[in-house]
Amino acid sequence: MIIPNVRPQTDYLYERRGPWPQPLPSHPFGLSPAVVHVPRNEVWRWQWRIGLRYFITLITFWFWAAIYAFRNRSLKPVSDSEFEDLLTHSSLSKFLSNELNEREKYPKNEKLDIFKEFLDAHPQEKFYVVDFSLLTKLKPYPGIYAVPTMSLFKGELVNGTRKVVAVYLYDTKKMFTPADGNAWELAKYFALQSGAVRIASSAHANLHFPYDSINAISKSSLPKDSVILRLLLPHLDLTLELNYAVLNSGTSPMLNKQYLPYSAFPADAAGLGGMFIDGYNGMEGNPSYEPYEFHAIPKDIYTDYGTFLFAYYDTILDFVNKVVAEIPKDEYVDLQVWVDYIRTWVNDFPHKDKFFDAAGNFIVKEVDTPTNKSVFVIAEVIANIVWDLSVGHAADHYDYSNININQAPLRMRVPPPDSKDIPPLDRKKLINWIDIFKHHYERKMFFAPRNVTFLKDVRYDFHKPHEEKLRKLNDEFLKNLKKTEANLTVYNYIPLDQITPSIQY
Ligand SMILES: [Fe+2]
Repeated sequence: MIIPNVRPQTDYLYERRGPWPQPLPSHPFGLSPAVVHVPRNEVWRWQWRIGLRYFITLITFWFWAAIYAFRNRSLKPVSDSEFEDLLTHSSLSKFLSNELNEREKYPKNEKLDIFKEFLDAHPQEKFYVVDFSLLTKLKPYPGIYAVPTMSLFKGELVNGTRKVVAVYLYDTKKMFTPADGNAWELAKYFALQSGAVRIASSAHANLHFPYDSINAISKSSLPKDSVILRLLLPHLDLTLELNYAVLNSGTSPMLNKQYLPYSAFPADAAGLGGMFIDGYNGMEGNPSYEPYEFHAIPKDIYTDYGTFLFAYYDTILDFVNKVVAEIPKDEYVDLQVWVDYIRTWVNDFPHKDKFFDAAGNFIVKEVDTPTNKSVFVIAEVIANIVWDLSVGHAADHYDYSNININQAPLRMRVPPPDSKDIPPLDRKKLINWIDIFKHHYERKMFFAPRNVTFLKDVRYDFHKPHEEKLRKLNDEFLKNLKKTEANLTVYNYIPLDQITPSIQY
């Protein structure tokens, strides 16, 4: 075994007494490990740059939320094309699954039976499902309704969307199609509501919390002057305290305490809790809910949103790969230790044998990206970290916070349709004024971006005299980010000048 470099403690951030992951105190088995001892300077920096803004919004925004709720008291109609846009084009489209076209891979998939009549009627057609059955674990407050749904779409992307076929209500086993008039109109709201609940309270969590382990381990185990720590630091800024507050604060939005004006979710913490656990651990036998595992390459998304995210991933991978080529050889052993530590805390993080050959050199693999034919395996992993913490996270917030809350609500005040024949909807009765008020408040507080620093300005601390090449790569990276935005072939889900380099909200 190679004994790692033994260097003085002063060569490390926080003298190597810094943050480290541990089981989350409140959910030691059900959720990803967390960091509960956040360095004091990081706490203060977060309080000053972000926490203070939360406080100011909390005490001042009620007036604007009330005006908004007064002017937008009822739900707004959702046409079929708007519905298709929301579930197959917006950030919610990341839930669109290809599983119905992979029967050999998932032969026991219950959705093959649920949607059998449609699949059998058009055996040559490609079908996609958006599965929000995660809500079976949700226990709403009395008088509030939220149910698990599955929506079926078909065909190739046309103008960035796929055609809607049906919405299935999982609890009551009722199927609705665009031919079902008022019942169809109501079913669409429940489908959109379940999507809003999944992205805001469960799926987004996997972009945040598993990366806390990587954040803490990088700061505590890589020497301050290592190339990779200097590359990662701008992407680790402000996040540990943010995540600590979300997971531990008594006023966290995850607790949904009803005396707080921004608590818009349809259930209390216990009623939401099962969804967080399933969102991380997966739902057995359901391909739409696989357990959280670290994926070096982002998972396929079968929509324009995926094309957008991959465009930036390629740019980031190209940059990181070139930086990895410049890492001095005496830093390789530090990276082996870093990888080993992370593996202990992050599900499926690759073993160091995947990154280093027997002689201790980086392993190279063939790829087929617009910019590279081969990359270092370790560069893919580091690119994933940079991408998730910047573009992957920020795009989710930016796009989701632009979705109309009067079309994709978090609460419904009427039960879902129980037959295909129901009277016309009174859209004012579908939701209460206070539900809109709280949702608008919560959006302003937690869903809308709260940018502090920007990816377009990121400057890595490549300050050593011999690091001219790294400084040039940094310049080139910023230019390539601009080129990526200019050359997008799909909708621009978040302007480059709104992307943060780290998780700041
Ligand atoms: Fe976030």
